Amino acid sequence: MDYSKLKIPNHVALIVDGNGRWATEKGMNRSAGHKQGFLNLKKLTAYIFSKDIHYISAYLFSTENFKRSQMEVSFIMGLLTNQLKDILNFCHEEKIKAIFSGRKENLSDKVLKAMEEIEKETKMYEEKTFNICFNYGGHTEIIDATKKIVKDVQKGKLDINTLDENTYSKYLYHNLPPIDLMIRTSGEQRLSNFMLWQNSYAEFYFPKTYFPDFDEKEFDKAILEYTKRDRRFGGIDYENKSH
Ligand code: IPE
Ligand code: IPE
Ligand code: MG
Repeated sequence: MDYSKLKIPNHVALIVDGNGRWATEKGMNRSAGHKQGFLNLKKLTAYIFSKDIHYISAYLFSTENFKRSQMEVSFIMGLLTNQLKDILNFCHEEKIKAIFSGRKENLSDKVLKAMEEIEKETKMYEEKTFNICFNYGGHTEIIDATKKIVKDVQKGKLDINTLDENTYSKYLYHNLPPIDLMIRTSGEQRLSNFMLWQNSYAEFYFPKTYFPDFDEKEFDKAILEYTKRDRRFGGIDYENKSH
């Protein structure tokens, strides 16, 4: 689809959901769904960035997902570990800066080292940023930022009276622009602890499609829906008679 005349979001966020159901309904095990979800994410990311959208955040594993069976958790950990090299190559090919958001605890040294390496090696790409949320929780992000703020106040590095939204954002895992369009696949209509700070004025879109089937055409539909939304940010356009 031609996006050149459309209002385009700067930051798109994806809650990758429905991998398990996608597989189960096909008579496969949930792992097959996670695998297919990863493959689709790569294709979709390349497509979204080709549309002059500069930021993508993808929710791949939540702090709460550790409640799942040991088998499923280790499969997802293994999948990420195996994909890290591929993610790095992909980012080089597409000139994408990759960053990771989430807590380090409970992740293996191998994964943490690979994440660090990817961030370091793709640092120079300025135009496209791919924020991968892994072992991520919106509450923990806010708590972790608050702890860093308290430390800086105690050290005399930050005057608490100057703390505003702008300064607070700098203490989050990454200082990202606000999310414009948040897509959660699979029909669930909730945030499940995803980027609570950054989603404050996002437009939400909830397609029924499971993530492995959420392709370019499905994304085009999301953009068309986004173009119809009237974003007000609390204000009113008095010139517009429909208000
Ligand atoms: C999303 O798919 C991936 C993760 C949360 C790790 P799910 O695994 O949640 O798939 P469903 O929702 O059970 O179908
Ligand atoms: C949210 O999906 C987490 C990710 C997509 C990584 P879940 O499938 O874990 O969320 P709930 O449990 O349905 O709310
Ligand atoms: Mg789910």
